[in-house]
Amino acid sequence: MASLVVLVFVHLLTCEVLSVSRPRCDRCDQTSCNCSWKQLQQVPTTTSKLTTVLNLSFNWITSILHDDFLGYSSLRSLIISNNRINMIDREAFSPLKNLENLDLSENDLDTLSAEWFRHLPSLQSLNILGNRYQSLSQDSLFQPLKNLKKLHFGGPLLQSVRKGDFSGLGCLEELVFDGRNLQKYDKGSLRVIEAISHATLGLNDPFQKNLQLVEDILSDAVQPNTTLTFTDTELFKNYQMSPVELAFNRGIRTFSFNNCNLSVEVCFKLLDLMSDSEISTFMIEDTKVMLLSETQLVIPNNQKHLEVVSFKNVEVTPFHVFPALIFLQPSLNKLRRISVLDSKVFAIPCGTADFISLEYLDLSQNMLFDLTFKEMMCDGDGGVFLNLKTINISKNHLETIDSELFTGLRKLENIDMSGNSFNDMPDTCQWPPALRYLNLSSAHLTQVTSCLPESLQILDLSNNSLTVFNLKMPSLTDLYISGNKIGSFPHGGLFPHLTFMSIQNNGLQTFSHDSLDEYKMLDILEAGANTYVCSCDFVAFMNNDLTNRVKIRDEFKSYICESPDAVRGEVVTEVRLSVFECHTALAFSLLCFSILVVVLVIVGLCYKFNVVWYMTMTWAWIRAKRRPVITKGELKYDAFVSYSEMDAGWVEAHLIPELEESEPPLSLCLHKRDFAPGGWILDNIMEAIEQSHKTVFILSQHFIKSEWCKYELDYTHFRMLDHNDDTVVLVLLEPIDKNTIPKRFCKLRKVMNSRTYLEWPDDDNHIPRFWQSLRAAIAKPMTVGDMSFDTTSVNSVSLY
Ligand SMILES: *[C@@H]1O[C@H](CO)[C@@H](O)[C@H](O)[C@H]1NC(C)=O
Ligand SMILES: *[C@@H]1O[C@H](CO)[C@@H](O)[C@H](O)[C@H]1NC(C)=O
Ligand SMILES: *[C@@H]1O[C@H](CO)[C@@H](O)[C@H](O)[C@H]1NC(C)=O
Ligand SMILES: *[C@@H]1O[C@H](CO)[C@@H](O)[C@H](O)[C@H]1NC(C)=O
Ligand SMILES: *[C@@H]1O[C@H](CO)[C@@H](O)[C@H](O)[C@H]1NC(C)=O
Ligand SMILES: *[C@@H]1O[C@H](CO)[C@@H](O)[C@H](O)[C@H]1NC(C)=O
Ligand SMILES: *[C@@H]1O[C@H](CO)[C@@H](O)[C@H](O)[C@H]1NC(C)=O
Repeated sequence: MASLVVLVFVHLLTCEVLSVSRPRCDRCDQTSCNCSWKQLQQVPTTTSKLTTVLNLSFNWITSILHDDFLGYSSLRSLIISNNRINMIDREAFSPLKNLENLDLSENDLDTLSAEWFRHLPSLQSLNILGNRYQSLSQDSLFQPLKNLKKLHFGGPLLQSVRKGDFSGLGCLEELVFDGRNLQKYDKGSLRVIEAISHATLGLNDPFQKNLQLVEDILSDAVQPNTTLTFTDTELFKNYQMSPVELAFNRGIRTFSFNNCNLSVEVCFKLLDLMSDSEISTFMIEDTKVMLLSETQLVIPNNQKHLEVVSFKNVEVTPFHVFPALIFLQPSLNKLRRISVLDSKVFAIPCGTADFISLEYLDLSQNMLFDLTFKEMMCDGDGGVFLNLKTINISKNHLETIDSELFTGLRKLENIDMSGNSFNDMPDTCQWPPALRYLNLSSAHLTQVTSCLPESLQILDLSNNSLTVFNLKMPSLTDLYISGNKIGSFPHGGLFPHLTFMSIQNNGLQTFSHDSLDEYKMLDILEAGANTYVCSCDFVAFMNNDLTNRVKIRDEFKSYICESPDAVRGEVVTEVRLSVFECHTALAFSLLCFSILVVVLVIVGLCYKFNVVWYMTMTWAWIRAKRRPVITKGELKYDAFVSYSEMDAGWVEAHLIPELEESEPPLSLCLHKRDFAPGGWILDNIMEAIEQSHKTVFILSQHFIKSEWCKYELDYTHFRMLDHNDDTVVLVLLEPIDKNTIPKRFCKLRKVMNSRTYLEWPDDDNHIPRFWQSLRAAIAKPMTVGDMSFDTTSVNSVSLY
C-alpha cells in the first residue's frame, strides 16, 4: 500500500516536473511558429490558440506524448522532421482535428501505427520518409486518411512493400517513394491507389539488382497521366532502361531525372526509346552525365512528340571528349521550349539544329559570351529561330548589347538579358518589331539611350547605376527602375500608358501630387527604401492623398525618413512633425514680429525711464572717477558758468564785466572762451565743472531747451547725486515754471524748491544788490574736500 502511494506520488511529481519544464515556443507571429533549431527535447507549449503552423524541425525531440498538442487545436501544419522521435502516443494527434500537413520525416520511428492517423480526418499531406521502419508494418495504415493527396514514404531501411499497405488511398497528387534498398515488392500493392499524378521514385538498388521489382512498381504506379521522376539513381547500362521502356509504353508524357548519375550511353538509349513514345516533356535536374567508355552510340530516331526539354544544373564530364551533338539535329525540329539552365553551356554552333518550331529558349546562368552567342544566333540570320517568342540569356558573360542578332526574329516578343555586364548601350539599335518585354536588370548600365525600342510594354532596368530615366516610351505599361541612383520621378508625360512602376531603393527625396499627376494611367506604385526628406507636405501627402491616387504595393513600413535628423529612420506615415516644422514661414514671421515687439517695448521703456541718459552719465562719471584727484588749491576757476547761447548777450554784457573786471576779480570759465577745441563736449563740461569751485547756471527758457546746457545740468546733477555737495548757484534770468524742468532732474528741482536762487531783478535799483549776492554765493568759503572727488567711494548711482 505504502509503495503504491509513493509510486503515485513519484508519478505526480514527474508529471509536475515535466509540465513545469515544458519549453515555450516564442518565435511566433500571428499564426505561425518557427521553433526549429532550438535543441528542444519536448514539444513546446504554444502562446496562442490560433497557431496554424508549427515548425519543430531540427530539434532533439524523442517522444510525442498524449498531451503534447492539447493547446494546438487550430494547427493546420505540423513539421517535426529531423528529430529523434521513436515513440508517438496513439492519442498524441487527437487534438489536431484540422491538421492538413504532417511531416515526420528523418526521425527514428521503427514502427508505424494507424492509430496515430485515426484522428486526422483533414490530413492531406503526410511525410514519413527517412525513418527506421523496414515495412509499413500494418495493414491499412493509411486507411483513415480519406483526404490524403500527398504521401512521402520509405527510407534506407525499407525492405518490403506488401499488398494492403496502401489500401484506402484514393487519388494521389504526389507519391514520393524512397525504396533505395527495397528487397521485396508484392505485385499490385500500389495499384490500389486509383491515380497518381506525380510519382517520384528512388529505386537505386533495385535498378542495379532487381529490374523486375522496378518494373512491377512502375506497372502499378504509372498511368498515362502520371509525371514520372527517377531520383537518387545511377543508370549506366542500356539494359537498365527496360523499366523506363515499360513506363513509356504505358503512355506517359512527362518524364524526368532528378539528382541522378547517367552515362552518355543511357542518354542515347533514352532518346531512342523516347522517339517511339508519347513523351512530350523531358527534364533533367541536378544530374551528372558521364562518358564512361567508348561505346557505340545508338543514333536516335526523330522525336515525334517531344516539345519541351529542360535541363537544369546538368553537369557533363568530361565535357571536352563529349561527342558533338550535330547529329541530333533532325530529332529536335518539333521542340517548342528548350531550357538549359546553369549547365555551363558556353557555345552552341550555328546550325546545330533546325529550331524551326522553337518558341521559348532559356539559356540563363550559363557561360555564353559575345562571340559564342553571335555564333549561336548565326550572326543574326533570322532563319534559325523563325518562331522564337522568348529568349532568356540572363546571367551569362555577355558584354555587348547587339540588337542586330535579334532583328530578323519577327516573332520575338520577350528578351531577358539581365545579369550580364553590358556597362553601356549603343546609341541606336534595331530590335524586332514585336518586342514588348526587355529585361536589362543587373547589367551594370550607367545610362540609357534611344537604343531602347518604343514598342516596349515591360521594361526592367532595376539594379543598375542609372541616375535618370527620360526616354519616351509610348507603349510602356510596366517600368522597373528599382535599385538605381535616380533622384526624382521620371517625367510622367513620357509614359502615357504606364500602369505600374517600381522605383524602390533609389535616391528619391520626395514626391507629391505634381509628380504623380503627369502619370495618367498609373495604378500601382512601389517606391519604398528611398532617401526621403520628411517635409510636412510629403508626410501629409503620404498619409492622406497618396492612396487615393495609386495603390502602394510594397510595404508602407519601407518608406523611411532619411532626414531631417530628428525623424531619421522613422516610417514616413508614423512621423509627427511640429507646427514649427510645418509652417516655417509663418513661424518665422511670428518670431520676427515678436522680437520686433520686444525691441520696441525695450526702446519705449528706455525712453520712458531715460535709460540712455543714465548710461551716458554713468559712463562720463566713470571716466571722471579715473582722472587724477584734484585738490581744492589747484582749481583753476572760481566758477563755471553754464548758459544758453541765447543768453550770451546778457552774460557778456553784464556778468563778465561785473564779476571778472571788478575788484576782487573772479575767474570764470565760459565754454565759448575756455573750452579746449576738438574735445568731446561732455568731457569739456565735466572738466570745467571739476576745475571750478562753483557752477553757476543761468536759467532761462532758452537754457532749458539748449542741448549743451542740458549736459552741464545733467553732469552737475549727477555730481550732486554722488557728492551731495552744494556747489550750484542758480541764477534765474526770467521766471521759470518749475514744472517745465525735466523730471529726471529731480534733485535740481529739489534744489530749486529748497534753495533760494538769485533772480535777475526787473527793477534796476536792485541790480547792485543782485551782484553782491552772486559774488557772495560764488566766493563763499568752502569746507576742505568739498570739491575734490573722492575716488575711494565709488557709489553705485541710485537712479531715483
Ligand atoms: C526558422 O528559424 C530558423 C532558425 O532561426 C531559420 O534558420 C529558418 O530560416 C526559419 N525558417 C522559416 C521558414 O522562417
Ligand atoms: C521548417 O524549418 C526548417 C528549418 O528552419 C526549414 O528548412 C523549413 O523550410 C521549415 N518548413 C516550413 C514548412 O516552414
Ligand atoms: C488524364 O488527364 C486528362 C486531362 O488532363 C483526362 O481527361 C483523363 O481522363 C486523364 N486520364 C486518366 C486515366 O486519368
Ligand atoms: C553520383 O556520383 C557521385 C560521384 O561522382 C556520387 O557522389 C553520388 O553519390 C552519385 N549519385 C547517386 C545518386 O548515386
Ligand atoms: C530568365 O531566367 C532567369 C534566371 O533563370 C529567371 O529569373 C527569369 O525569370 C527568366 N526570364 C524569363 C522572361 O523567363
Ligand atoms: C528580370 O530579370 C530578373 C533576374 O533574372 C528577374 O528577377 C526579374 O523578375 C525580371 N523582371 C521581370 C519584370 O520579369
Ligand atoms: C544587383 O547587381 C549586382 C551586379 O550588378 C549583383 O551582384 C546583385 O546581386 C544584384 N542585386 C539584386 C538584388 O538583383
